[in-house]
Amino acid sequence: MSIENLLISDHGAVRTITINRPDKLNALNHATILELDTAFRAARYDQAVRVIVLTGAGAKAFVAGADIAELTALSSVQARDFSQAGQRMMRGVETLGKPVIARLNGFTLGGGMELAMSCHLRIAADTVKMGQPEINLGIVPGFGGTQRLTRLCSRSAALELCLLGAPISAERAYQLGIVNRVVPEAELDAAVEAMAQQLASSAPHAMRGILDAVIHGGDMALDQGLVFETQAFAVTTATEDMREGTRAFVEKRKAQFVGR
Ligand code: COA
Repeated sequence: MSIENLLISDHGAVRTITINRPDKLNALNHATILELDTAFRAARYDQAVRVIVLTGAGAKAFVAGADIAELTALSSVQARDFSQAGQRMMRGVETLGKPVIARLNGFTLGGGMELAMSCHLRIAADTVKMGQPEINLGIVPGFGGTQRLTRLCSRSAALELCLLGAPISAERAYQLGIVNRVVPEAELDAAVEAMAQQLASSAPHAMRGILDAVIHGGDMALDQGLVFETQAFAVTTATEDMREGTRAFVEKRKAQFVGR
């Protein structure tokens, strides 16, 4: 499958995936959703990739939503398939087992907000506008927005954003716990780079265990989640990186993790 709507580049262990439809504010059409699915699957199995940064091309948008031009022509059966394709791709991002940082550089609306919420960490430029405006089109968010907003923030935030459909500022998104950091637009790249480099030098098996425990364990009853966490913890004690991390602490030096 050729990739026409994405730009993919590697810098050390950091892979950057850029949605590249700036003339359509990076709206998610079906082809782009399938390409993202393929790109994230490739990143999952590439041992050299430890961190993924996901962003949108141009200065104006991360992603301004699902492609409305495509939506208008969908039958309800096609709409079901479109919804499931988006949900599957985003669940793939969420369960990747490697940290994904959403670099939010402008409009982050509808499917864009849903995509951002499927990432593990979100850094937003202070100019970002976020929201779930589907109500204004007479539809329900179909890529997990109602579910992830409820889990990430609260029922109250989910109902406010989805029912009123008005975009909120980056600052308000931070207050609600939707984004992890808000930075001046000019400092966005430096902030993303600093976070990506920190993650790239961390122990990948420990990151995997944390992601699995939070993403999968977080949806379990507490007792099951705690058992899950214990198993993830025990696995990391069998790694070279665990020996290195604890030894480096005792020897008062920075640990060099090798990913084994
Ligand atoms: N789907 C398809 N195309 C979209 C789009 C979307 N979600 N969002 C923007 N575009 C397209 C516009 O149609 C326009 O294309 P054109 O130049 O061929 O006409 C181009 O991107 C630029 O958008 P434009 O609306 O001219 O920019 P703006 O600065 O005036 O407004 C927004 C920006 C984000 C406020 C506006 O584009 C918008 O409301 N987009 C839809 C947001 C939405 O409802 N998303 C949820 C979808 S389920």
